[in-house]
Amino acid sequence: MHLTREEEAILAGERGEAAARALEVIVRVGDALGAERLVPIAHAHVSGVSYGNIGDPGAELLEGLAGAGARFSVPTTVNPIGYDAEEPGFFSASREFLEGQARILRALRRMGASLTLSCTPYYLPDVRGIPGGSHVAWGESNAVVYANSVLGLRTNREGGPLALMAAIVGRTYYYGLHLDENRMPSRAYRLSARRLDEARAGVFGEIVAVGHVDERPPMLLLPRRPGELELREMLAALGAAGSVGMAVIPGVTPGAPGEPPRGLEVVEVEEWDLEGRLASIAPGPSGVDVAFLGCPHYGLGDLERLARAAERLGGLRVPVVVSASRRAVIEAAARGLAARLARLGFRLSGDTCMVVSPYPVKGLRVATNSYKAFFYLKRRGARAYLAPEEEVLEAAALG
Ligand code: F3S
Repeated sequence: MHLTREEEAILAGERGEAAARALEVIVRVGDALGAERLVPIAHAHVSGVSYGNIGDPGAELLEGLAGAGARFSVPTTVNPIGYDAEEPGFFSASREFLEGQARILRALRRMGASLTLSCTPYYLPDVRGIPGGSHVAWGESNAVVYANSVLGLRTNREGGPLALMAAIVGRTYYYGLHLDENRMPSRAYRLSARRLDEARAGVFGEIVAVGHVDERPPMLLLPRRPGELELREMLAALGAAGSVGMAVIPGVTPGAPGEPPRGLEVVEVEEWDLEGRLASIAPGPSGVDVAFLGCPHYGLGDLERLARAAERLGGLRVPVVVSASRRAVIEAAARGLAARLARLGFRLSGDTCMVVSPYPVKGLRVATNSYKAFFYLKRRGARAYLAPEEEVLEAAALG
């Protein structure tokens, strides 16, 4: 791999031992992938920071890096952790879990991370200010797909450690979705459906992700421009159910053509494909024990919609856990919206979610409007169901 003089100097230890080690990792991975050079990044988003995921070995790695002088050289945000930092007890974290998570946060803070603790970094004003076409290094699959497909930023699906190393050296390997040619669609998927909501958009994301094994992105042809919630859930599903890192969507993706380029294969996805799959995973008549909304994290507008919907239903009979970015939780508290949601029966939390926290979901009947949450809650042993938000709330109102 070709390295600049500055990169050679970092490798030689000019910016300290920790930066040299971090760059060595990036170069080794880049070499293995056949990357010809590195590329400077404007931002990094580090995932895999829940103590439940990385445990003591992860905490030790981060503490070791911070202690060796590693500092982030580009603005760096952080994915959700295993508890609500303002109310750690709610998600059933043990003392050991709380202490392990606190060690991880201290090390990340010491290295200069902005502890946003949200999986929707793409809504942060600073991130929205990064010019389209810029290179970034993000972990967290939903954020990667959103960054590439909606913001026109360029990132591969980085694992947590690689995003961390890239944040330290401010570079990543020039490979995959960083290159123009790999951002051209290799196949289109046309959805013919009269009804589209976020649950259906998620199921469409699943169908595409399972069928699309190419490294180049799928092109998605939808019956209409998706709303923000539909878009977010569809992109999160693409990231969860397969290895897709980007989608090309007319009217959404910067520079996307309005029609599939001539010669591109178009796969038809019919309404019954969607409806059949959704019917098989919808909440049954036996009811639900708990509902989970806010995967990926909800914003303020989502919380306002929730309050209005629950008021129309006259309140909720089973708990509805809602994960939101800390920023949205703070704004909701300032407007009295958080108190209104609590009165209606919602349990609003920041910094975490039902998937990355130790919330005991095993055996519970959990309804969600998020395909991604459905996918991971099932893996954690829940009896998960998928339906649009409106129907999840109706199920929660009925008990
Ligand atoms: Fe975010 Fe948790 Fe979903 S981290 S994307 S709310 S699984």
